[in-house]
Amino acid sequence: ALERTLSIIKPDAVAKNVIGEIYSRFEKAGLKVVAAKMKHLSRQEAEGFYAVHRERPFFAALVDFMASGPVMIQVLEGEGAVLKNRELMGATNPKDAAAGTIRADFADSIDANAVHGSDSLENAAIEIAYFFPATDVYAR
Ligand code: CMP
Repeated sequence: ALERTLSIIKPDAVAKNVIGEIYSRFEKAGLKVVAAKMKHLSRQEAEGFYAVHRERPFFAALVDFMASGPVMIQVLEGEGAVLKNRELMGATNPKDAAAGTIRADFADSIDANAVHGSDSLENAAIEIAYFFPATDVYAR
C-alpha cells in the first residue's frame, strides 16, 4: 500500500555533508520526499520526539546527540514506505548493518547512526504529525 514514513538525517550525517547521497538512496528506491525541513532541535523537542524511550538507559545521550546540531527531517512516500526505508537504513547498530545500507556506509556508532526512520505505520503517523502540519505535506 502507499505509505508515508518519517525520516531524520541525524547531526552526524548532516555534519558529514551526505544529505544528498542519502536523498539519492530514497529516490532510487522509489520513495518520494513529500515534506522536508532542516532544524536544530531543542532538548525539549528531542525529548518529546523520543518520549517512548524516556525510561531507557540511553535516553539522555540520545537527546544530547539529537540536539547537538541541525538535522534534516523529511516525510517519505511510496509503496511500503515504512519497511522500505528501514531496509535502506540497515540495523540500528552500524556494526550489524548489512553492506550497502545507509548505516553501514555513513554511521559511526549506535548513537551517531546517521538516520532515524519510523518503525511502524502507526508510529509514522505520530512522528509525521510531531514535525509537520498536514498542510506542509505535499501529495505527489
Ligand atoms: P533511532 O532509530 O533514532 O531510535 C532511537 C535511537 O536510540 C536509536 O536510533 C539509536 O541511535 C539510539 N540508541 C542508543 N543505544 C541504543 C540501544 N541500546 N538500543 C536502541 N537504540 C539505541
